[in-house]
Amino acid sequence: MKKEKYEELLLEVAGLTEGETDEIANMANVAAAIHAKFGFHWVGFYRVLPTPDGNDQELVLGPFQGPVACTRIAYGRGVCGTAWKEGRTLIVPDVDQFPGHIACSALSRSEIVIPIFREGKVWGELDIDSAETDTFDAVDEKYLTQILTPLTR
Ligand code: SME
Repeated sequence: MKKEKYEELLLEVAGLTEGETDEIANMANVAAAIHAKFGFHWVGFYRVLPTPDGNDQELVLGPFQGPVACTRIAYGRGVCGTAWKEGRTLIVPDVDQFPGHIACSALSRSEIVIPIFREGKVWGELDIDSAETDTFDAVDEKYLTQILTPLTR
């Protein structure tokens, strides 16, 4: 059932992003399409951008659907900062078991974070929070990675 929903979502996202080069517009529609299809608690993007003093980089909140969220996340911090540091997708079945998890919302119970690469470096991430434990697995990772193709270069 999850697979069928993702197959539909892939077609929707391809249609929404086709020919569109503005990445904010694409992130906004991808977040909204995933949120509408699955009803996850929070779906959104973080991008690697300069810190306010310009001396470093950190994750900065991008387009999302759901409750307000942490604006900036440091390298190596929380699930998002760890996925950036390790350059790989993280699936957290129970956020209470993840040391350093950043609770933007007390309702989040499980999480998946998928890095988006450009020129071999993490450019940003898709972060999805579920209000239930154990929501995400390899099927989600596979399809969500495909869905992010329009944002990858
Ligand atoms: N839980 C994330 C923070 C981002 S919010 O979930 C939207 C983390 O630990 O990095």
